[in-house]
Amino acid sequence: MNKLLFFLVTCLSSFPVFAQRKTISQRVDSVLRLMTLDEKIGQLNQYSGDWEHTGPITKDGDKQNQIRNGQLGSMLNVMGVEHTREIQKMAMQSRLKIPLLFGQDVIHGFRTTFPIPLGQAASWDLKAIESAERIAATEAAASGIHWSFAPMVDIARDARWGRVMEGSGEDTYLGSLIAAARVKGFQGKGIGNTDAVIACVKHFAAYGAAIGGRDYNSVDMSLNTLWQYYLPPFKAALDAGAGSIMNSFNSLNGIPATANKYLVRNILKDQWKFKGIVVSDWGSVGGIARHGYAADNKEAALAAILAGCDMDMESRCYKDNLAQLVKEGKVNISLVDDAVKRILTKKFELGLFDDPYKFSNTEREAAQKFVPAHIEAARDLAKKSIVLLQNNGKVLPLSKSVGSLALIGPFIKAVRDNLGFWSIEWPDDSSTIITQYDGIKNKVSPATQLLYAKGCNINDRDTSGFAAAVESAKAADVVIMSVGEARDMSGEAKSRSNLHLPGVQQELIKAIVGTGKPVVLLINAGRPLVFSPEMDKANSLLYTWWLGSQAGNAIGDVLFGDYNPAGKLPISFPRTEGQEPIYYNHLNTGHAAASDTIAFYVTGYIDLRNSPKYPFGYGLSYSTFSYSELLLETKEMRKNEQIHISVTVTNTGNFDGEETVQLYIRDMAASIARPVKELKGLQKIFLKKGDSKRVSFVLSEADLKFYNDQLKYVSEPGEFKVFVGTNSDDVKEGSFRLL
Ligand code: BGC
Repeated sequence: MNKLLFFLVTCLSSFPVFAQRKTISQRVDSVLRLMTLDEKIGQLNQYSGDWEHTGPITKDGDKQNQIRNGQLGSMLNVMGVEHTREIQKMAMQSRLKIPLLFGQDVIHGFRTTFPIPLGQAASWDLKAIESAERIAATEAAASGIHWSFAPMVDIARDARWGRVMEGSGEDTYLGSLIAAARVKGFQGKGIGNTDAVIACVKHFAAYGAAIGGRDYNSVDMSLNTLWQYYLPPFKAALDAGAGSIMNSFNSLNGIPATANKYLVRNILKDQWKFKGIVVSDWGSVGGIARHGYAADNKEAALAAILAGCDMDMESRCYKDNLAQLVKEGKVNISLVDDAVKRILTKKFELGLFDDPYKFSNTEREAAQKFVPAHIEAARDLAKKSIVLLQNNGKVLPLSKSVGSLALIGPFIKAVRDNLGFWSIEWPDDSSTIITQYDGIKNKVSPATQLLYAKGCNINDRDTSGFAAAVESAKAADVVIMSVGEARDMSGEAKSRSNLHLPGVQQELIKAIVGTGKPVVLLINAGRPLVFSPEMDKANSLLYTWWLGSQAGNAIGDVLFGDYNPAGKLPISFPRTEGQEPIYYNHLNTGHAAASDTIAFYVTGYIDLRNSPKYPFGYGLSYSTFSYSELLLETKEMRKNEQIHISVTVTNTGNFDGEETVQLYIRDMAASIARPVKELKGLQKIFLKKGDSKRVSFVLSEADLKFYNDQLKYVSEPGEFKVFVGTNSDDVKEGSFRLL
């Protein structure tokens, strides 16, 4: 063949290849053109796999037939290469061979369990949080998962609500930073890489403001509050590229979120131009009728598709009614097409049309089990999540050569309770969870005597173990007690009206504190708990949340000073349940109290001070940090200018350590009342003992903006206070004017 002929043959034979190199949008359109109405509606339908003792797979013959008939677009709760491959094979028998999307709640780790999200938020360490999600995504994607139903970015101001454990706490600014970090972690270098999963920011919107803290309850909220405090973390997650979003269960001002045109169609799809998938929450399309917003499932399906919900998780309302609604002319086919396109686009982006088994690779899955670097990252984030609340008499850190330790309480030898709610059960994981007992044992000298007594269970009235526990305490130099909520006491549908320790744990603490021995109390929980007077009498209090599979090692690191605790509370801790909802960035009132004492004719209670037990941002260190007065570069700022604020922080204690320096502002007078403080900056610094560091912040007009009563995002001239300190309560103060 001469060279010219060879060239022509090569060009022509490669032409179809070039012809196939269409954009994703063109490829989506070409698939859509082939689809029947039923196949389109099938893409909008999502089912859960059925958990069998053998694993998460659907044995339901009807579901299997629907998959083979192209009546399903996605499944959740099907995990593992074997199971996802098996089910994907069924989808490959359908007429158009459109691959399924496999979604899963990857809330705080997949194989490796990290601290619960609220605990992670206490680290205020965005890099560590992003890395945790990177690991979770890598592990999940190696197990056939394409899509993670996280991050949850709901602002939570009420600790009675069980799902506070799943988010980043009460603050919009911190919550927005963490939301973006999590999305970056999940999606890594981009959807389509075999170590990335699609993030799903949830629950849209205002779910955390359920009245009375009762899960799923209605939300009644001004649009100003919605825009100012509840929506920004969603926007931050979407700006970071989140590929999907989930409706919430609640109604907002009378309209169920899944049927809420204002939220989904207007804000999300029109104003924010979101192009990804909107998935309902579990059965929330059907829930529209139960809310009383639709007469039946057909009306519910109509309301949801009109509002902009693209995929129906588990309610079957779309499957059973959408075709009819289209035929009756109530739903324009363009709405269905738009929803299908969004779903097909993600399937193309993932690369599933080229290889439906791309994420079902046995070797990759095996390689992601028990990875040492992942375990190390879980330990690192776990120790960073621990918050030191009290350290009277400087009992901590303990010496590794302490003579004897009494290890008491239902959490000391607990295994799975360390993982917390929303952790994934693996048949082989219990050997990989480090108990608190083992974590402590690994630290102390061989000569240290460990006296173990469980004392009581987490949640019953049995006190028969008290006497042995008291004996151990009396015989030891120091007592370490570990108490808390069982892993299913915070989480979805786990709201509590009583935020005290469950069972007889408080009584056990009283008995142990009564021995007069130095007591270190570890508190494991998914939410802020209310502290009894006995708990306050413990010398040292460490809030450990639910720390994950490396709980024991992380606790050991902190107890014995290998790590100096630096966690800061991402949520206010109430003195009693009666203070809920309690949050630091509240408004002043016309009857604002001048001091934190009980007084009449001021906003407050006649039987309790207003301040929380522990304020937002609070957390001690084994060292101490002093803050200089604030230095403001100028006292006036024009809108196009910036203002530099600095403070010198000195480590005045005896340990090297980290401090999270927090900056808050207050707009003193505006066209709509502004909070008494709002977080606007944070910096984590490490200081060797005796060292000082100048920490600088920059504020610009964007930081001073708020939604006015017309929902316009504006700044207004006038006086602003600026506060910098170690928590939201303990701050240095300055002020400037915006011109
Ligand atoms: C929860 C969601 C979760 C979904 C799927 C619902 O009950 O509210 O957060 O993603 O179930 O498991």
